[in-house]
Amino acid sequence: MRKKFIAGNWKMYTTLAGAKSLALGVAQGVTDDAVTVAVCPPTCWLVPVAEVLKGSHVGVGAQNVHYAAEGAYTGDLSPAMILESGCQYAIIGHSERRHGLAEPDLFLNRKVKAATAAGLTAIFCVGELLAEREAKQTEAVLEFQLAAGLAGLEAGALGKLVVAYEPVWAIGTGKVATPEQAQETHGFIRKTFGKLFGAEAASKLVIQYGGSVKPDNAAEIMKQPDVDGALVGGASLKADSFVKIVQAAR
Ligand code: 13P
Repeated sequence: MRKKFIAGNWKMYTTLAGAKSLALGVAQGVTDDAVTVAVCPPTCWLVPVAEVLKGSHVGVGAQNVHYAAEGAYTGDLSPAMILESGCQYAIIGHSERRHGLAEPDLFLNRKVKAATAAGLTAIFCVGELLAEREAKQTEAVLEFQLAAGLAGLEAGALGKLVVAYEPVWAIGTGKVATPEQAQETHGFIRKTFGKLFGAEAASKLVIQYGGSVKPDNAAEIMKQPDVDGALVGGASLKADSFVKIVQAAR
């Protein structure tokens, strides 16, 4: 039985004071470990947010990570730096970086390998554009993103991997995939993962859904057998709505 995992992606939102009070509100609302919960604040707030969440039931994740251990990489952060900032997770390949900033699959693959090798759990994002869904290319796109992004990942790293399916057309648009669409696509992702890493690894893989998840649609989506939680954007910026989504996962 896979444990549900809800993560909040705060993107480029919050002030320092706002981030701390949001983290506190989430910590107060999540009172046990029935569901795995994490928040991913902007990088500059990782340390203070991790401080607030110390001893709570809420983990911390970064929204990005570099693949190198150190070096001349202006503006980037290594897996060890992210870990030492108090994180257990790192989002890799979010569409706002994959499509928005043209991060190539090869980079994402290096990031997944480096992050998991360092001990972070990678939340590896995949998802198709609207035009790709309309052209019935969803499965081909996902198959490619999974094969390229996870190429060469060692068996020992699989326990440190979560896949987030985020259809790009559903991110921040209010258009949510129907529960049937989510189940069909998550089932396909699990099957594809099974071809890459074997049936046992596939049965253990946590696959989150992301894209306009709100308190009023979360339960129905997460009821689907292959939907193991959610990666939440907008609705994670208010403690009460994020905590309601956590409760919907129970
Ligand atoms: P929204 O929940 O705002 O659609 O964002 C989803 C997302 O991109 C989470 O990573």
